[in-house]
Amino acid sequence: MIHIQNLTKRYQVGSEVVSAVQDLSVQINKGEIFGVIGFSGAGKSTFIRLLNRLEEPSEGSIVLKNRDITTLNSRELRHTRQKIGMIFQHFNLLWSRTVFENISFPLEIAKVPKRERKKKVQTLIDLVGLSGKENSYPSQLSGGQKQRVGIARALANNPEVLLCDEPTSALDPQTTDDILELLVDINQKLNLTIVLITHEMHVIQKICDRVAVMENGTFIEVGEAEEVFHHPKQKTTRRFVQQLAHPAEKTNLELDGFKHINSGKIVRLNFFGGDADGLIIGEVSSKYHVHINLLEGNLTRRESGLYGSLLVHIDGDDHEIKKTITYFKTSSISVEVKSGA
Ligand SMILES: Nc1ncnc2c1ncn2[C@@H]1O[C@H](COP(=O)(O)OP(=O)(O)OP(=O)(O)O)[C@@H](O)[C@H]1O
Ligand SMILES: [Mg+2]
Repeated sequence: MIHIQNLTKRYQVGSEVVSAVQDLSVQINKGEIFGVIGFSGAGKSTFIRLLNRLEEPSEGSIVLKNRDITTLNSRELRHTRQKIGMIFQHFNLLWSRTVFENISFPLEIAKVPKRERKKKVQTLIDLVGLSGKENSYPSQLSGGQKQRVGIARALANNPEVLLCDEPTSALDPQTTDDILELLVDINQKLNLTIVLITHEMHVIQKICDRVAVMENGTFIEVGEAEEVFHHPKQKTTRRFVQQLAHPAEKTNLELDGFKHINSGKIVRLNFFGGDADGLIIGEVSSKYHVHINLLEGNLTRRESGLYGSLLVHIDGDDHEIKKTITYFKTSSISVEVKSGA
């Protein structure tokens, strides 16, 4: 469906050249939900914006239904863009227009007659679950409702591809789930190909068929989502997979229950596969003069190792605690010190 070859995007920043996307090749299949995950600065937004030429590629080709969109002139590009919808983290709605008028906007640009427009907008409003909100302004809507408007507007010209750049990053977990469900729903109803960018593995796990892990402007790992969860090959992939076993950061809240602990350090140990093993807790306790108490935890064993995290209290002499933490770190466990006397 979308055949991407040797795609490269370079930016000139002063005297330096930054390669935001670097020699990237991938094929995205018709009707699939293709997720791209990566840390900040990996090149995700640049990649997705190249797909509809909101960014002009420096090199490479993007073949959509047998046409290389990198070679289209501006008139052809306008036409092709109608077949590629896009939604954004911050919705990008027109604030002075109502819900109805926002969704109608791309149809006006495509010169769809008024009656047909009205009918289409109403169908879209029903599809995204916004009935009754036709005359509201974006400022009167919740985040989830705004994203529903964004989705309806992106679908107005019956696109075949929907590009989503962090569509749920500004939403709370429940609303995120609702929006993800809506995306699956339209993917199935409309046989729409969806390319979705995120930095959360939960989002990939919920709805993506395949996932690409992006780093330094290229895909370091691509595969069926399930396969990648169970056999992550790259270190960065393992870190993302580990998110699945690590509940959303509770930061200071999680420590409220441990206020009575007033010596040593409270530390979170994150396991993301590899050689790290639970036995290490016993090992360090006998190796160094420390007591380790388990406060809470969530570990899952996969073929590629142990995933998840443990919150522990390490008590003992400062020097011994320091050596213990260093030992954890050298055993491919990441250590977050949460509190310490
Ligand atoms: N217009 C630009 N001019 C110069 N450099 C840019 C431009 N846009 C992006 N970059 C650089 O390209 C790299 C990739 O940026 P991009 O926005 O694609 O990352 P991202 O993966 O979407 O990050 P985030 O998760 O923070 O949104 C970064 O180093 C960024 O500074
Ligand atoms: Mg981005």
